[in-house]
Amino acid sequence: MPNIVVVGTQWGDEGKGKVVDILTPHVNVVVRYQGGNNAGHTVVVGREKYVLHSIPSGILHAGCRCVIGCGVVVDPGSLIEEMEALVQRGVSFDGNLFISKNAHLIMPYHPALDRASEAKLGSRRIGTTGKGVGPAYVDKAARVGIRMADLLDVQLFREKLERNVAQKNRLLREIYDAQTFTVDEILNPYLRYAGWLAPYITDTASLLTRWIESGYSVLFEGAQGTMLDMDHGTYPFITSSSTTSGGAATGTGVPPTRLQGILGVAKAYTTRVGSGPFPTEMSGQMAEDIRARGNEYGATTGRPRRCGWFDAVVLRYAVRINGLDTVALTKLDVLDQCETVKICTGYRYKNELLTDFPEEEAVLDGAEPVYEDVSGWMSPTSRAKNEADLPAKARRYLERLEELIGVPFCMISTGAQRDETILCEDSPLMRWFPSVRSSLL
Ligand code: IMP
Repeated sequence: MPNIVVVGTQWGDEGKGKVVDILTPHVNVVVRYQGGNNAGHTVVVGREKYVLHSIPSGILHAGCRCVIGCGVVVDPGSLIEEMEALVQRGVSFDGNLFISKNAHLIMPYHPALDRASEAKLGSRRIGTTGKGVGPAYVDKAARVGIRMADLLDVQLFREKLERNVAQKNRLLREIYDAQTFTVDEILNPYLRYAGWLAPYITDTASLLTRWIESGYSVLFEGAQGTMLDMDHGTYPFITSSSTTSGGAATGTGVPPTRLQGILGVAKAYTTRVGSGPFPTEMSGQMAEDIRARGNEYGATTGRPRRCGWFDAVVLRYAVRINGLDTVALTKLDVLDQCETVKICTGYRYKNELLTDFPEEEAVLDGAEPVYEDVSGWMSPTSRAKNEADLPAKARRYLERLEELIGVPFCMISTGAQRDETILCEDSPLMRWFPSVRSSLL
């Protein structure tokens, strides 16, 4: 049974939630391996819309085991709220959620530091979600972080908390002129969270290995996107985790040799929330139209997303960095009313034509997109069941994109519903999950 990684190929918000939801009936386990509640994975089931932040999207399928891996940072209060809201809507947590004992905790001083640091950066701010994800990973790397397992040892938890509160209060007071914390105001709620979460905290790395050895199939659900990766993204305008496929191994303890395939998710255009370079960004009426048609507002913060044309340079980079086997293209329908659709095929920098994504900040800042215009199809795509049902001009757009990125599409999404999905013939996805078509019925 294959173990497949699903990653975002752009700056997040590509529609990974829908893709994971379609694949979940064909796997036994869905694992989150990085990020935290900065993510917002939207899944629409009939008339119901779910936005998942820390819990893997697989939770919406009874029988699927969901794991929060060691690479994730967990805000326990927000996780419990998310669980309670799902329980209200009929989802059960009965032997189907497993949280790594090594996952680091987001503590109340992390969002405070996140916000204070952004305020101090002024015009150079990253535009974070303010959830404290960056500062929690700072503590992890600085070896002062507090982990899930520590929650279960009151004495140890108190000692680590006392040391951290003393240090963070100095930072908050002396560097940021911000409000400080007392140990007790954190200790009491966190001990309550510990009681709540204790049954779910376990050694997920060895569980996953055992499950894989016994023939289970695991889906690794990436959050954010390739261009927000800490090492490979548009640094410093990134999130603080390994969003690319390599993170699936380090963020779970499952060795890379156990991964059989990597599926990238890309939007038929591009969006970005927060600051940082975005070569194909649109402005004016076109940006507003795409934002409105695509409902491009952050699922976690509600912020309007910046919108732009499809960037094949970014996609080729994502293919290389993640080792993508195939790509699921989402939101094709959002372009249905465009008279002309633009594809960025390269960047012009000074007198040079760049076809590889430049990682140097100065080059990226000065890079001008080079576009190829494609005639728009000006007709609806969302009822198409097969590629052949799509308007000829939409098919031409897809063929050109495939040619430019160099890997085949496996899925074309034309709406939020499960049945607004076209499965492409002969794609790697069909080999991994031969019965995938049954999820669309
Ligand atoms: P942080 O992850 O909150 O530290 O934010 C760092 C950058 O990543 C900001 O530009 C955020 O807008 C962006 N970001 C974080 N999570 C997501 C996401 O789930 N989708 C899109 N952008 C995200």
